[in-house]
Amino acid sequence: MEKELHEHPLVIGQTLQRMVDPASRRVMLPEMPFDLASVPRAVITACGSAFYAGMIGRYWLEDIARLPVDIDVASEMRYRNPPLTAGSLGLLISQSGETADTLAALRSLREKAVHILSVLNVEHSTMARESDVVLGTVAGPEISVASTKAFTAQLTVLACLSIAAARARGTLDEAGEDALVSALLDLPSRAAEVFTQGPAIRRMAQIVVEARDVLYLGRGSMFPVAMEGALKLKEITYIHAEAYAAGEMKHGPISLIDRTVPIVASAPYTPLFDKTLSNLQEAKARGGRLLVFTDTKGADRVSAIAEDMVMLPHVHDFVAPILQTIPVQMLAYEVAVLKGTDVDQPRNLAKSVTVE
Ligand code: AGP
Repeated sequence: MEKELHEHPLVIGQTLQRMVDPASRRVMLPEMPFDLASVPRAVITACGSAFYAGMIGRYWLEDIARLPVDIDVASEMRYRNPPLTAGSLGLLISQSGETADTLAALRSLREKAVHILSVLNVEHSTMARESDVVLGTVAGPEISVASTKAFTAQLTVLACLSIAAARARGTLDEAGEDALVSALLDLPSRAAEVFTQGPAIRRMAQIVVEARDVLYLGRGSMFPVAMEGALKLKEITYIHAEAYAAGEMKHGPISLIDRTVPIVASAPYTPLFDKTLSNLQEAKARGGRLLVFTDTKGADRVSAIAEDMVMLPHVHDFVAPILQTIPVQMLAYEVAVLKGTDVDQPRNLAKSVTVE
């Protein structure tokens, strides 16, 4: 897992190389047997971390491409029997391309005459064979049960897909595309800088390892990042963790807060920063210990309230969830090392879940 974590900058770069034309700096997707301009709706489905990548993809597709998106975990999507107009887009996300629930969801979407686009890391997988079009993540083999680099590669592909869909649908002009592509191309070097924060992440791990329960918070596209952080912690450290949309805390989970339940928050300086910070202040006022992932622009205000923080480079809002994912995964890894659990092969889990 440690090796794969360190491959984040490389796989983001490799995935971009496949999706962005270096000369024109425009997103270039493979030929598709349907037109993104006329797709009435997208349905995203996946499991586990791939599902959280899909949640971030939904923010992008709705916001930039103005495409209505429905999303659910694959194991539930099938039972909902969602009414879908023929010609809609089924967007499946999977590292392995073999996950039984995602494959079953693909087949049930296929029966509804939707176009099947899969974002896959293993390009010769069952899902690849059954899809109309595959967008490959160039993450290389991912061996550790906990998905890391495949997740940021999935986000990179979804970001490019959102840009291409926005261009096709006329919701993004050339200057807008230029700004988003520049932010993406800048990411591999910004991602490499995250590893300088190792000492701060290890300090946070010393606090988290003592906890029985941990709350992860985020707003907007940082909410799925919080979910990814909580899943990674549960998966490899066996510490109970829950992710909440920061604004939901006052509707229940705030009653859990005391000194024994650390709060891990993802709060880069985006338009949602002030609101996230005010949620964190509410938690602090109730005795919460705040461990915050922020960036150079948010650092001053975060340091005034947080017990500890990790300061990442400030990047465009669009790519912030990709960068912010790396330290939450690193935190889980460091806690697992302190606990002495089997990081790469956690109990009860398999790399690819081929039973429903
Ligand atoms: C993530 O760390 C997990 N091991 C798990 O949630 C995984 O993302 C999920 O099982 C989906 O797998 P897939 O991407 O191969 O379909």
